[in-house]
Amino acid sequence: MTLSNMKRLPRPVNTLFVSEKLVYRSVQMSDLDIFYQIISEPGCMEMGHPLISRPPTQKSMDHFVESYQKKALIFVFIWLQEKSENGHIIAGKPIGSLNMSPPSLQAREDHRSTSFSIWLLEEYRGKGYGEEATNWAVDWAFIYAGVHRIELWSFSFNEAAIRLWEKIGFKLEGRKRENVWF
Ligand SMILES: CC(C)(COP(=O)(O)OP(=O)(O)OC[C@H]1O[C@@H](n2cnc3c(N)ncnc32)[C@H](O)[C@@H]1OP(=O)(O)O)[C@@H](O)C(=O)NCCC(=O)NCCS
Repeated sequence: MTLSNMKRLPRPVNTLFVSEKLVYRSVQMSDLDIFYQIISEPGCMEMGHPLISRPPTQKSMDHFVESYQKKALIFVFIWLQEKSENGHIIAGKPIGSLNMSPPSLQAREDHRSTSFSIWLLEEYRGKGYGEEATNWAVDWAFIYAGVHRIELWSFSFNEAAIRLWEKIGFKLEGRKRENVWF
Protein backbone atom coordinates (compact mmCIF):
# COMPACT_ATOMS: atom_id res chain seq x y z
CA MET A 1 0.00 0.00 0.00
CA THR A 2 1.23 3.51 -0.63
CA LEU A 3 0.52 7.10 0.26
CA SER A 4 1.69 9.99 -1.90
CA ASN A 5 2.52 13.47 -0.75
CA MET A 6 -0.52 15.50 0.21
CA LYS A 7 -0.96 18.98 1.61
CA ARG A 8 -0.40 18.93 5.37
CA LEU A 9 0.11 21.87 7.69
CA PRO A 10 3.54 22.20 9.34
CA ARG A 11 3.57 22.11 13.16
CA PRO A 12 5.41 24.56 15.41
CA VAL A 13 8.94 23.23 15.95
CA ASN A 14 8.60 22.96 19.74
CA THR A 15 5.79 20.46 19.28
CA LEU A 16 7.44 18.58 16.43
CA PHE A 17 7.99 15.35 18.35
CA VAL A 18 4.66 15.45 20.13
CA SER A 19 1.12 14.68 19.00
CA GLU A 20 -2.15 14.97 20.93
CA LYS A 21 -1.50 12.22 23.50
CA LEU A 22 1.93 10.89 22.47
CA VAL A 23 5.63 11.79 22.48
CA TYR A 24 8.27 10.43 20.05
CA ARG A 25 11.86 9.92 21.18
CA SER A 26 14.86 8.38 19.47
CA VAL A 27 15.84 4.92 20.68
CA GLN A 28 18.48 5.25 23.41
CA MET A 29 20.71 2.35 24.41
CA SER A 30 19.37 2.77 27.98
CA ASP A 31 15.83 2.08 26.69
CA LEU A 32 16.68 -1.15 24.92
CA ASP A 33 14.94 -3.39 27.42
CA ILE A 34 11.68 -1.63 26.49
CA PHE A 35 12.29 -2.31 22.83
CA TYR A 36 13.02 -5.97 23.55
CA GLN A 37 9.77 -6.18 25.50
CA ILE A 38 7.88 -4.72 22.53
CA ILE A 39 9.34 -6.92 19.82
CA SER A 40 9.27 -10.14 21.82
CA GLU A 41 5.51 -9.84 22.43
CA PRO A 42 3.51 -12.43 20.51
CA GLY A 43 1.88 -10.86 17.45
CA CYS A 44 4.43 -8.08 17.18
CA MET A 45 7.24 -9.30 14.91
CA GLU A 46 4.97 -11.92 13.34
CA MET A 47 2.62 -9.18 12.12
CA GLY A 48 5.36 -6.97 10.75
CA HIS A 49 7.91 -9.36 9.24
CA PRO A 50 7.77 -12.43 7.01
CA LEU A 51 10.11 -14.25 9.40
CA ILE A 52 9.84 -17.75 10.75
CA SER A 53 8.02 -17.34 14.04
CA ARG A 54 10.43 -18.16 16.88
CA PRO A 55 11.43 -16.59 20.19
CA PRO A 56 13.82 -13.69 19.55
CA THR A 57 17.36 -14.05 20.90
CA GLN A 58 19.38 -11.25 22.46
CA LYS A 59 21.67 -11.36 19.42
CA SER A 60 18.82 -11.10 16.90
CA MET A 61 17.31 -8.17 18.78
CA ASP A 62 20.68 -6.38 19.09
CA HIS A 63 21.16 -6.81 15.36
CA PHE A 64 17.69 -5.45 14.64
CA VAL A 65 18.24 -2.33 16.76
CA GLU A 66 21.71 -1.68 15.36
CA SER A 67 20.61 -1.98 11.75
CA TYR A 68 17.59 0.30 12.27
CA GLN A 69 19.70 2.87 14.09
CA LYS A 70 22.10 2.86 11.14
CA LYS A 71 19.79 2.87 8.15
CA ALA A 72 16.39 4.17 9.25
CA LEU A 73 15.15 7.57 8.18
CA ILE A 74 13.47 7.70 11.58
CA PHE A 75 13.35 5.13 14.39
CA VAL A 76 11.56 6.19 17.58
CA PHE A 77 9.81 4.91 20.64
CA ILE A 78 6.24 6.03 21.13
CA TRP A 79 5.51 7.23 24.68
CA LEU A 80 2.31 8.27 26.40
CA GLN A 81 2.46 11.95 27.29
CA GLU A 82 2.64 13.10 30.88
CA LYS A 83 3.02 16.56 32.39
CA SER A 84 5.99 17.44 34.62
CA GLU A 85 5.49 19.38 37.89
CA ASN A 86 6.13 22.62 36.01
CA GLY A 87 3.57 21.71 33.34
CA HIS A 88 5.94 20.63 30.57
CA ILE A 89 5.07 17.69 28.34
CA ILE A 90 7.28 14.70 29.14
CA ALA A 91 7.50 11.08 28.00
CA GLY A 92 5.53 8.89 30.44
CA LYS A 93 5.05 5.22 29.55
CA PRO A 94 6.59 3.65 26.43
CA ILE A 95 3.88 1.95 24.35
CA GLY A 96 5.56 1.02 21.06
CA SER A 97 7.92 1.88 18.29
CA LEU A 98 7.80 3.08 14.68
CA ASN A 99 10.31 3.43 11.91
CA MET A 100 10.70 4.56 8.33
CA SER A 101 13.40 2.96 6.24
CA PRO A 102 14.49 2.78 2.63
CA PRO A 103 12.13 0.30 0.91
CA SER A 104 15.06 -1.97 0.08
CA LEU A 105 18.79 -2.02 0.44
CA GLN A 106 19.11 -1.00 -3.20
CA ALA A 107 16.81 2.01 -2.86
CA ARG A 108 18.57 5.29 -2.37
CA GLU A 109 17.45 8.32 -0.40
CA ASP A 110 17.49 10.36 -3.63
CA HIS A 111 14.17 8.80 -4.60
CA ARG A 112 12.53 10.29 -1.49
CA SER A 113 10.56 7.11 -0.96
CA THR A 114 10.30 5.30 2.36
CA SER A 115 8.67 2.28 3.96
CA PHE A 116 6.83 2.45 7.28
CA SER A 117 6.23 0.06 10.15
CA ILE A 118 4.79 0.39 13.64
CA TRP A 119 4.29 -1.89 16.64
CA LEU A 120 2.34 -1.21 19.80
CA LEU A 121 2.35 -3.25 22.99
CA GLU A 122 -0.82 -5.33 23.08
CA GLU A 123 -2.44 -3.52 26.01
CA TYR A 124 -2.24 -0.20 24.12
CA ARG A 125 -3.76 -1.40 20.83
CA GLY A 126 -7.28 -0.43 19.77
CA LYS A 127 -7.21 2.86 21.71
CA GLY A 128 -6.45 5.23 18.83
CA TYR A 129 -2.69 5.44 19.46
CA GLY A 130 -1.75 3.61 16.23
CA GLU A 131 -3.75 6.09 14.17
CA GLU A 132 -2.33 9.08 16.04
CA ALA A 133 1.29 7.87 15.73
CA THR A 134 0.93 6.92 12.04
CA ASN A 135 -0.54 10.33 11.23
CA TRP A 136 2.32 11.97 13.11
CA ALA A 137 4.93 9.92 11.21
CA VAL A 138 3.27 10.64 7.84
CA ASP A 139 3.23 14.38 8.59
CA TRP A 140 6.86 14.26 9.69
CA ALA A 141 7.93 12.46 6.52
CA PHE A 142 6.06 14.68 4.06
CA ILE A 143 6.69 18.01 5.77
CA TYR A 144 10.13 17.69 7.31
CA ALA A 145 11.94 14.81 5.62
CA GLY A 146 11.11 15.63 1.98
CA VAL A 147 9.53 12.23 1.43
CA HIS A 148 7.01 12.02 -1.43
CA ARG A 149 5.95 8.37 -1.18
CA ILE A 150 5.40 6.10 1.79
CA GLU A 151 4.93 2.40 1.27
CA LEU A 152 4.08 -0.42 3.61
CA TRP A 153 2.72 -3.92 3.47
CA SER A 154 0.58 -6.05 5.74
CA PHE A 155 -0.47 -9.65 5.90
CA SER A 156 -4.02 -10.09 4.62
CA PHE A 157 -4.99 -11.46 8.08
CA ASN A 158 -3.81 -8.26 9.84
CA GLU A 159 -7.23 -6.61 9.74
CA ALA A 160 -6.42 -3.92 12.30
CA ALA A 161 -3.42 -2.70 10.32
CA ILE A 162 -5.18 -2.79 6.94
CA ARG A 163 -8.18 -0.84 8.23
CA LEU A 164 -5.86 1.68 9.81
CA TRP A 165 -3.84 2.21 6.61
CA GLU A 166 -7.06 2.62 4.59
CA LYS A 167 -8.45 5.08 7.11
CA ILE A 168 -5.31 7.21 6.82
CA GLY A 169 -5.49 7.17 3.01
CA PHE A 170 -2.99 4.50 1.86
CA LYS A 171 -3.94 2.99 -1.51
CA LEU A 172 -3.62 -0.71 -2.32
CA GLU A 173 -1.06 -1.30 -5.12
CA GLY A 174 -0.99 -5.07 -5.19
CA ARG A 175 -1.18 -8.38 -3.39
CA LYS A 176 1.39 -11.16 -3.14
CA ARG A 177 -0.17 -14.60 -3.02
CA GLU A 178 1.20 -17.53 -0.98
CA ASN A 179 4.17 -15.34 -0.04
CA VAL A 180 4.54 -16.70 3.50
CA TRP A 181 3.75 -20.02 5.15
CA PHE A 182 0.89 -19.35 7.60
C1 LIG B 1 -1.72 -2.19 13.69
C2 LIG B 1 -1.64 -1.28 14.89
C3 LIG B 1 -0.42 -0.35 14.77
C4 LIG B 1 -2.93 -0.41 14.90
O1 LIG B 1 -2.87 0.50 15.97
P1 LIG B 1 -4.07 0.60 17.03
O2 LIG B 1 -3.72 1.61 18.04
O3 LIG B 1 -4.39 -0.77 17.50
O4 LIG B 1 -5.25 1.14 16.09
P2 LIG B 1 -6.24 2.35 16.45
O5 LIG B 1 -6.84 2.13 17.81
O6 LIG B 1 -5.51 3.65 16.24
O7 LIG B 1 -7.38 2.19 15.38
C5 LIG B 1 -7.38 2.89 14.16
C6 LIG B 1 -8.30 2.20 13.19
O8 LIG B 1 -7.77 0.92 12.89
C7 LIG B 1 -8.83 -0.03 12.79
N1 LIG B 1 -8.65 -1.06 13.84
C8 LIG B 1 -7.92 -0.98 14.98
N2 LIG B 1 -7.94 -2.15 15.64
C9 LIG B 1 -8.71 -2.98 14.91
C10 LIG B 1 -9.09 -4.35 15.04
N3 LIG B 1 -8.67 -5.09 16.08
N4 LIG B 1 -9.84 -4.90 14.05
C11 LIG B 1 -10.23 -4.18 12.98
N5 LIG B 1 -9.90 -2.87 12.79
C12 LIG B 1 -9.15 -2.29 13.74
C13 LIG B 1 -10.12 0.74 12.98
O9 LIG B 1 -10.58 1.14 11.69
C14 LIG B 1 -9.68 1.92 13.75
O10 LIG B 1 -10.45 3.07 13.51
P3 LIG B 1 -11.90 3.24 14.21
O11 LIG B 1 -11.73 2.87 15.64
O12 LIG B 1 -12.24 4.68 13.98
O13 LIG B 1 -12.79 2.30 13.47
C15 LIG B 1 -1.55 -2.07 16.26
O14 LIG B 1 -2.72 -2.83 16.40
C16 LIG B 1 -0.33 -2.95 16.38
O15 LIG B 1 0.71 -2.51 16.84
N6 LIG B 1 -0.46 -4.25 15.97
C17 LIG B 1 0.65 -5.23 16.07
C18 LIG B 1 1.82 -4.90 15.14
C19 LIG B 1 1.36 -4.68 13.71
O16 LIG B 1 0.52 -5.38 13.20
N7 LIG B 1 1.94 -3.68 13.05
C20 LIG B 1 1.59 -3.34 11.69
C21 LIG B 1 2.48 -4.01 10.72
S1 LIG B 1 3.91 -3.00 10.44
